[in-house]
Amino acid sequence: HAVVAIVPAAGIGSRMGADRPKQYLEVCGQSILAHTLDRLLFHSQISQVIVALHSDDNIFDSLPQAVHPKLTKVLGGGERADSVLAALQLAPQNSWALVHDAARPCLTVSDIDKLLASRVQFPQGAILAMPVRDTMKRANQQGEIGSTVCRDNLWHALTPQLFKAQQLKGCLNAAIAAGVVVTDEASAMEWAGISPGLVSGRADNIKVTHPDDLGLAELFLMRALT
Ligand code: C5P
Repeated sequence: HAVVAIVPAAGIGSRMGADRPKQYLEVCGQSILAHTLDRLLFHSQISQVIVALHSDDNIFDSLPQAVHPKLTKVLGGGERADSVLAALQLAPQNSWALVHDAARPCLTVSDIDKLLASRVQFPQGAILAMPVRDTMKRANQQGEIGSTVCRDNLWHALTPQLFKAQQLKGCLNAAIAAGVVVTDEASAMEWAGISPGLVSGRADNIKVTHPDDLGLAELFLMRALT
């Protein structure tokens, strides 16, 4: 079955405080989104990359990746889940959807391979994730430590997240209709009673969220490019 990559990139990225959506900030000679798309476009098992964009986006078409034959763009929605759903409309019957954050440009071929291979063990789909290393604290209203959260079995959810396209579509629609807060694709699957697999991913697959992350992404990308 075909594997279609979906990249929700229709957010505003307000946390970065820059003059443009964060995926258009430059690292190592091209924008974050361009790096992310390259990682997916050049993977031999990914047949199509669908990117969801904001209606005000006037930068995407200037990227060299915009005219790649494997690339299709769609208009995103109000929330991340709406953008993913818009892209899923174009996914072929029986395909697998590999959803990946636009803001994770350091994804490696080996992590994509690992996630794709995990379909044998996890036929309902799986996500890249990382076991929590630090001690976790829950704050109280005063910004003090309220309690320590047991970190046993606690993971960071990363992307890509891989599911059967039709099933993901059904679960996202149902979760949205029920008013569930869907911050990643797996949470919609979980809500529907499905338990996606956890596939241990690399620590350098960071999400560029704050300005400080740009330097880290640059370091990781430089290492990969040299
Ligand atoms: O804001 P946050 O970092 O959680 O956004 C995650 C991803 O979802 C970003 O790549 C963003 O562009 C995308 N997104 C989207 N459509 C929205 C909101 C966010 O595609 N309406």
